Amino acid sequence: MCGIVGYIGEKQAAPILIEGLRRLEYRGYDSAGIAVSGQKVTVIKEKGRIDNLKAEIDRVYPVGTVGIGHTRWATHGIPDRSNAHPHSSMNGIVTLVHNGIIENYIEIKNELAEKGYVFKSETDTEVIAQLFDSLFNGNAVETMIKTAARLEGSYAVAMLVKGFSDKVFTMKKDNPMIIGAGDGEYFIASDIPAILPYTKDCYIVKDNDFVELRKDGITVYGIDGEEKAADINSINMSVDAAQKNGYDYFMEKEIYEQPKAFHDTVSPLIKDGSITLPFEFPKGFIKNLSRIHIVACGSAYHVGMTAKYIIEDMARIPVIVDIASEFRYRNPILNENDLCIFVSQSGETADTLASLRESKARGAFTMSIVNVLYSTIARESDGVIYTNAGAEIAVATTKALMAQLGVCYILAAFLAHEKGLMGDDILRNFTEEVLTVPEKIKKALCSSDNTKEIARHIKDRQSMFFIGRGIDYPLCLEGSLKLKEISYIHSEGYGAGELKHGTISLIENGTAVVAIGTDDALLGKMISNIKEVRARGAYVIAIVKEGTKGIEEVADKVIYVPCASRYLMPSITVVPLQLLAYHTTVLKGFDVDKPRNLAKSVTVE
Ligand code: AGP
Repeated sequence: MCGIVGYIGEKQAAPILIEGLRRLEYRGYDSAGIAVSGQKVTVIKEKGRIDNLKAEIDRVYPVGTVGIGHTRWATHGIPDRSNAHPHSSMNGIVTLVHNGIIENYIEIKNELAEKGYVFKSETDTEVIAQLFDSLFNGNAVETMIKTAARLEGSYAVAMLVKGFSDKVFTMKKDNPMIIGAGDGEYFIASDIPAILPYTKDCYIVKDNDFVELRKDGITVYGIDGEEKAADINSINMSVDAAQKNGYDYFMEKEIYEQPKAFHDTVSPLIKDGSITLPFEFPKGFIKNLSRIHIVACGSAYHVGMTAKYIIEDMARIPVIVDIASEFRYRNPILNENDLCIFVSQSGETADTLASLRESKARGAFTMSIVNVLYSTIARESDGVIYTNAGAEIAVATTKALMAQLGVCYILAAFLAHEKGLMGDDILRNFTEEVLTVPEKIKKALCSSDNTKEIARHIKDRQSMFFIGRGIDYPLCLEGSLKLKEISYIHSEGYGAGELKHGTISLIENGTAVVAIGTDDALLGKMISNIKEVRARGAYVIAIVKEGTKGIEEVADKVIYVPCASRYLMPSITVVPLQLLAYHTTVLKGFDVDKPRNLAKSVTVE
């Protein structure tokens, strides 16, 4: 995933582009660059972080009030200066930046090379520039349309075109692009935080829009070259959502925003003890619903696994959970009685989007649980439930996951009630308890000092285990992922009952094991599993409900969390897991928000 910015107005473009790129640095940061249209188009690009680019801009200082910028997460070509964006075409017709992946770039590159085009980079992006150059007929919009017709894959492109120095052009397919409408100035960005400081009035560019931006307005053309309406929306998000607000890291801020994220997500769905979803299933659909597929990646997949336990037990509907990169290729058996649920913070994850399209093509009813408004997955689902977690900047998801869990609780109860398995009174009691969860998350946040102390004991470990049973098991996978992705400590999430089938051979003196035991019905078994690993020298950190007896005798450290009904515990238990990963990473001195090799949304396969 990469970050794109653009500006056209009366102010010098370079500072605005740099500031915008800084706000999008979480989308990728292995190289960055800008192009400013002045007397001529000046391109400055550097390997590494935005600061490297800023130093070069301070030296060269490109003058001009029109420009584009890009921060890269490499897909084609190593992260170096030659592969950094912007890329210019051989004849200087176009200079552009791109987010996405062009799947047929080799074929086009060979075709252009035969026409004499010389390429300076390994990127698929440069192929777009050279193709545009080869098709240019003096009309930038027409050339964009012809260029797009040849491209297979996903793209969001912003470009400066020769002869149109007072304009910026953009087009997109399957990648986000937003236009901000200012007073005598317009902005382009891959994501809202880069626009918010200037304006809340935005146009969400749609697939196969071809847009011309001027400082006094925009014109949107369709694939047929005809002008089309540009509906400007006011985005209700504060700038501080994209700021740290006094916290050291976005992740820390977002961990502490979880009570609000949970509340803002679930409360609109609950009215007087009953549940109202923001969309309607087709008439009779729930009655004939035979199977639910939940498809997602990473942490969102762990949410799906958690939802399985809850929906199957409450609504007695079979739930199949898949990682999207497998689902899309395993020829899934789907029909009109299937409900496919896609969980995604960004709403742009390539594998999840492809799985959504595959499911629609096979006749299933599709709904999504998404955090980013108007994102592609949200727009293409038959129904969407937005998590109102606000912009999540840290690569490691926390508040969005918390909000997704809230939606799953609501959905499970809704389905159980619709199937006649949950009466009105039980539903009222359940929804009332759901509304108490934010207070319990707040209490769980008080375990921060304890988890910080524990982090000191684990920060130098080479490997760790997270074990649990029942609804705690998906949290083991999530706790393991959180620790791995930001502290770089290898770990495994494991079913506690499964450990003895081989992997327990890895437990030796000093092996750190986080044991999660919040399910009363399984606690006895968990204590047995803790004893098994302890007997082999493990250092055990137990996470249990307040009031749990007999745990301090078998664990080295204990984190107590507030009590709630079994199905609501994941929202409480996940908090110390997040804090443990956060504190460990801070103690190790790593960048919590921008872990190596990762990006906030994986919009490529
Ligand atoms: C979670 O901390 C990771 N950043 C990653 O696993 C993420 O959950 C996954 O890439 C899915 O992203 P999405 O929710 O935006 O689809």
